[in-house]
Amino acid sequence: MVKLGVNIDHVATMRQARGGFDPDPVEAARLCEEAGADSIVAHLREDRRHIQDRDIVLLRKSVKTRFNLEMSVDPDIVAVALNVKPDQATLVPERRQELTTEGGLDVVRHFKRIKTASAALIKKGIEVSLFIAPDKKQIDVTYAMGVRTIELHTGSYARAFAGRLAIKEFAQIRDMVLYARQKGMIVNAGHGLNYDNTYPVARLKGITELNIGHAIMSRALFTGLKQAVRQMFAVIRSAKP
Ligand code: PXP
Repeated sequence: MVKLGVNIDHVATMRQARGGFDPDPVEAARLCEEAGADSIVAHLREDRRHIQDRDIVLLRKSVKTRFNLEMSVDPDIVAVALNVKPDQATLVPERRQELTTEGGLDVVRHFKRIKTASAALIKKGIEVSLFIAPDKKQIDVTYAMGVRTIELHTGSYARAFAGRLAIKEFAQIRDMVLYARQKGMIVNAGHGLNYDNTYPVARLKGITELNIGHAIMSRALFTGLKQAVRQMFAVIRSAKP
């Protein structure tokens, strides 16, 4: 069965909206693991808009499965990762204005920077994965760089799925999973996967792990809402004068 890594960034986004302590992404990670998550994914962005340095230090200590740190190749972020030593580092492109990681890394264009960051992380014993588009050239260059784990960006597939069947985008992912597997690479996938579009991808042979965040956190809000309201009523009732 394909594994599931749960991205907890959105829990931190909600916390940062108030600048306090709740909800705590570290507690969210614990609950995800209790529910069977195979890994915990968190993105320490350069602008620290959601996950904070404190979070990744605590996650490193508390995550019992695997801690997968998403990060850019910025030298300051690489230095933090070398210090914290997650089990895995997934290198992603990062633009300040974007709402989320909109595209894959361009490994062809940024070969030197990505290779330097990857080599430093691998040397520390951290597994490196590159978040790339399902594209032959990107896979070839990743392989040439010495990196053997990739995460295929499923954003185009997910966007297309919302409007139609996404046959072309799905075929591209399927073919690139096969292509990378033939090279002996470990293939993960993620971005924009939800309760409707995950099934076909999860059936693909050759994918090791899917990384999903937004859909799970959105669902969690609703599945937990009734209980949260009832618990507040319990407090109010117990305070009856
Ligand atoms: N994988 C990577 C590399 C990502 O950057 C993200 C988004 O942070 C995800 C997976 C999860 O995407 P989503 O929140 O759309 O499920």
